[in-house]
This record gives sequence, C-alpha cells and structure tokens, in this order.
Amino acid sequence: MLRLFISCVSFGTLKSLHIILAYATVGSFIVRAVWSLTDNEMLKARWVKIAPHGIDTLLLVLGVAMALNMSLSPVAGWLGAKLLGLLAYIGFGVLTLRSPNRTGKIAGLVGALLSVGYIFAVAFTRSVWPF
Ligand code: HEM
Repeated sequence: MLRLFISCVSFGTLKSLHIILAYATVGSFIVRAVWSLTDNEMLKARWVKIAPHGIDTLLLVLGVAMALNMSLSPVAGWLGAKLLGLLAYIGFGVLTLRSPNRTGKIAGLVGALLSVGYIFAVAFTRSVWPF
C-alpha cells in the first residue's frame, strides 16, 4: 500500500508535504502548550484532541515513505537519531499537556522544544551530531 503511494507521488512532493507537516506539528504543539499553561478550555475540544494526531500520523507515514524510497535503515545513522528525538519529543509533549503542575508543564515544554529542534537540525544536516 505504502509502496504504491510512493510510486504514484514524486519524492519532492513527499518531502514538501513532510516539511509542511513538520512545521504544523510544532505550531499545533506550541498552541496546545500555551492552552495547557493557561488552563484554556479549548484543550478539551474534540477536534483539538483529534487533529494533532492526524498531522503526526501523516508526518510519520510520509517520513517512512521517504525512508523506504532512500533505502534507509531506521535504527542506524541520522534516521535512527531522528527517531530517538521523536520519542523524546512525544514523551516531553505528553508531560507538557498532562502534567498536573506548572513546573512539569514548563519542563515538558522546554524538553519538547529542544527535542524537536534537534530533529530539525538532524533533518537539515543529515548528521547525528548536527552542532
Ligand atoms: C517531529 C518529527 C519530524 C520532523 C520535525 C521532521 C523534519 C524534517 C525536515 C524539516 C526535513 C527536510 C530536510 C531537508 O530539507 O533536507 C525532513 C526530511 C526527512 N525526514 Fe523528517 N521529520 C520528522 C519525522 C520523521 C520521521 C518519523 C521519519 C521516518 C520514519 C522521517 C524521515 C525523513 C526523511 C527520509 C527525510 C528526507 C531527507 C533527505 O531528503 O535527505 N522524518 N524531515
């Protein structure tokens, strides 16, 4: 199924969509983090709970499609580093949105922004240590 999708869409299109969704996931996370810190009721809206998962799933699917296209191993090199960064981003993201206290939310936000910053740096440089 995924291979059929890859063969129908050019690599450039996959990459452009992936990049748009990469910025969208960060944007949607920052908005939800601010709502979490200000106890905004918007955070409880049904679409706010569903839409970010749609963005993240599509981001992941397009990333996997490109990795297959490039025959990259998911456990080695810069892609492995990116996936570890993604796990950290998800963990810190959950902490930001679910922590019962402000300190936990702020620690989660800082960790998530550092993790996603690392993911972007790895993506742009294709290097495990991009600094
Ligand atoms: C929060 C998660 C992610 C972010 C922010 C992100 C960000 C990016 C960005 C900005 C690029 C473009 C780099 C450039 O212009 O050269 C890129 C490329 C890429 N990403 Fe992601 N990505 C994420 C997740 C993933 C995942 C989960 C995978 C695979 C399982 C993946 C695989 C790739 C691949 C294969 C490329 C193409 C690199 C190339 O052309 O050399 N990404 N990513």
